Amino acid sequence: MDVEEFREFGKAAIDLIADYMENIRARDVLPSVEPGYLVNSLPPEAPEEPEQWKDVLHDFTHFILPGITHWHSPRFHAFYPTGTSFASLVGSILSNGLGVIGFSWMSSPACTELEVVTMNWLGKLLGLPEQFLNCSTGPGGGVIQGSASEATLVGLLAAKDRTVRRIKQTNPDLDEGFIKAKLIAYSSDQSNSSVEKAGLLGSMKMRLLKTDADGKLRGDTLKKAFEEDQEQGLIPCYCVATLGTTGTCAFDPLYEIGPLCNEYNVWLHVDAAYAGAAFTCPEYRHLMNGVEYVDSFDVNAHKWMLVNFDCSCMWVKNGYDLIKTFDVQRIYLDDLENSNKIPDYRHWQLPLGRKFRALKLWTVLRIYGTEGIRSHIRNQIGLAKYFAQLMQPDDRFVIEPEPAMGLVCFRLTEGDKVTKKLLDNLTEKKKVFMVAGSYHNRYMIRFVICSRNTKKEDVDYSWNKIKEEVDCLCPVNIHTKKYKVPVMKNIDAVKSNEKSK
Ligand SMILES: Cc1ncc(COP(=O)(O)O)c(C=O)c1O
Repeated sequence: MDVEEFREFGKAAIDLIADYMENIRARDVLPSVEPGYLVNSLPPEAPEEPEQWKDVLHDFTHFILPGITHWHSPRFHAFYPTGTSFASLVGSILSNGLGVIGFSWMSSPACTELEVVTMNWLGKLLGLPEQFLNCSTGPGGGVIQGSASEATLVGLLAAKDRTVRRIKQTNPDLDEGFIKAKLIAYSSDQSNSSVEKAGLLGSMKMRLLKTDADGKLRGDTLKKAFEEDQEQGLIPCYCVATLGTTGTCAFDPLYEIGPLCNEYNVWLHVDAAYAGAAFTCPEYRHLMNGVEYVDSFDVNAHKWMLVNFDCSCMWVKNGYDLIKTFDVQRIYLDDLENSNKIPDYRHWQLPLGRKFRALKLWTVLRIYGTEGIRSHIRNQIGLAKYFAQLMQPDDRFVIEPEPAMGLVCFRLTEGDKVTKKLLDNLTEKKKVFMVAGSYHNRYMIRFVICSRNTKKEDVDYSWNKIKEEVDCLCPVNIHTKKYKVPVMKNIDAVKSNEKSK
């Protein structure tokens, strides 16, 4: 392919994606394909002869697109959002166009320096304390990881190394392996699966502690666990607090957990993968009270901040903790002269190679501006509230717990079986996509405002699809008036009339 063909291919691909986004409402959210549909449609061998780009785009449209789950459909309400925006897409093209690897300053100075700049911008936008920023006078700083899962593992490995170093200072004869075998990590039973996985990958026992009635990990529970484990001869090492749990978007109280972790020399990592983006709006920052006690803090810009995957933004209070953990020298990587002046990011992450991810963060922050990001977050929270208001008056539904950020969890008063049937039926029809969750051992459905394309009319559409289905499953009985004439009530009050499971 020569440069002229590249121009044509690239422009055609951009047109295709622009058309796709513009007409996304015409598609079902879920694809109508069976496992193996693509494997059995494409040739078993790569083509021997070069092919034309038009044929490739043709096959993209005819074979790939039919097998896509449309995450950016305004009726996609499952999981949590994954970010995209035209600004981010252009940033990705620029990054891929340059095709650099930025493991050290020398390997591509702008790659490192733009990451320093954008992580400072974003850290300030989130209201993080100064000591987490590269521009502070201390050893703190930000780095872009591939995923929140990676950030949690990076924190765990750094915590392990820091704890071993601390214990060896007072007990130099103790064997490193002996110390490592005694280390223990903590999180809540509501934390993301990636937290438990970090324990598996980092060979550290992970206790998932019971949360309170609101799904939060409380200080007294954590303290009890530290004490129990110390009595057993174990060494508390790492704790992951979640700001915005995956199930119900609960916020662990950092002001309780933080001082305890500091007292027990436990590294505190914050997983704010989804909800952290809300801290761009000052009115939500009280939810991270106590952040000054934290060692590392992670927000996925690739979830709720309009940046395409992958862009997980992690800040640490002390970059040397990462450098000491991950520093492996080779003569061909030597950039010692510069690494005293600017982060050598290969020591802040798991892989050696690293993409120029900061470019897409930079294009988003510039094209939207901080006001644009805030208004995106506020708009999405407003749409979730609107959905809750539509559902609230209908006493066939229970909204529980209190909606948080862009998430509304609900179930049917008819019981778990019918709630599950509702989700199954809706999924089968493919017009609206949500996933299940559980709250206080009850089956519930999670409705999340995900797509940046979602408007009020789309929420009306999704609500009507849900209601139509419920009208079939639990028809309104006008004689008993079980389904009353809609009146607005507080969400808390909509808990009457429930059948047991
Ligand atoms: C709270 C939380 N943490 C971590 C993750 C995992 O994120 P990633 O896919 O970036 O590893 C998720 C995913 O939804 C999440 O909700």
